[in-house]
Amino acid sequence: MKQAKITVVGAGFVGATTAQRIAEKNLGDVVLHDIVPDMPKGKALDMMQSACLEDFDSQVIGTNDPADYKDSDIVVITSGIARKPGMSRDDLLKTNAGIVGGVVDNVKKYAPNSIVIVVSNPLDVMTCLAGAKLDFPKNRVMGMAGVLDSARFRCFIAMELGVSHQDVNAMVLGGHGDDMVPLVRHSTVSGIAIEALIPKDRLDALVTRTRNGGAEIVGLLKTGSAYYAPSASVAQMVQSIVRDEKRVLPCAAWCTGQYGIKDMFVGVPVKLGRDGVEQIMELKLTEGELKQLQSSAHHVRESCKVIGV
Ligand code: NAI
Ligand code: 2OP
Repeated sequence: MKQAKITVVGAGFVGATTAQRIAEKNLGDVVLHDIVPDMPKGKALDMMQSACLEDFDSQVIGTNDPADYKDSDIVVITSGIARKPGMSRDDLLKTNAGIVGGVVDNVKKYAPNSIVIVVSNPLDVMTCLAGAKLDFPKNRVMGMAGVLDSARFRCFIAMELGVSHQDVNAMVLGGHGDDMVPLVRHSTVSGIAIEALIPKDRLDALVTRTRNGGAEIVGLLKTGSAYYAPSASVAQMVQSIVRDEKRVLPCAAWCTGQYGIKDMFVGVPVKLGRDGVEQIMELKLTEGELKQLQSSAHHVRESCKVIGV
């Protein structure tokens, strides 16, 4: 069977760790691209030298040439900068829109049949930009945030109860921002509703911690943002696609009226398989949950206007 070709754009913390996870899981051959001269080649060579130790057969190559995206099955976009002191959110938006926009032009040129997973922030807006510029069928464009935000919520629930992370199921919808929507009512530990296990004030604290999950890590790292859990989240999405697992995962997906949200990308539960986003799953939400989701989507739409998407 043909080995999948997965291009990871941006060989920084998230991109390089994503490449490593994809290779170590033998999900396909990896092209790691960055604009910094030679750096992605060095990281790729370093990864290849670990192949005999980590038992993987994936080939990893590093490059500064976007022509190497050619015939990729999946392109993961992690290129971009983090917010620097003195920079407003809108400044970040415009800078990253320039970077992601340029990458997307190359994806369109060299990998027109690929499935694209956007990671760069602000996630939902960058996904909307990629979707608009690529003009691909919308099932082939998506953003990664919900898997990460849900993993954080699951982690905090498991830590609170002192139970196995494997038994915790939880989902976070909406945009990747302060107004993301952790679905408390749908969260369970081995099928038991967490509302029956955790008092309301503690649950509220876990929801707040989840919403601040990215900022908490930035506060501790001081010079960058999270990358272990983000790269693991991308790898889970890539695996579901290349192995046609049809996992149900929260991803920024193109909504066409689901949850009352139309013609934009925002975090909703989707079935992920070889065709990308194969279905948006519509949960029955309460009026309050729906309102939160729509309000989060509204904020994404407002930010999109800043860059004319
Ligand atoms: P980083 O600074 O370590 O890496 C970014 C890389 O992009 C750099 O190596 C840079 O040289 C490269 N780059 C810049 N312009 C490029 C271009 N035109 N083509 C190819 N490469 C280019 O940053 P890190 O930590 O890897 O984060 C990357 C992005 O992912 C950021 O925007 C960050 O906010 C976002 N992120 C999103 C998450 C999510 O849940 N969606 C989670 C974690 C990070
Ligand atoms: C995070 O949530 C920075 O979006 C990134 O860790």
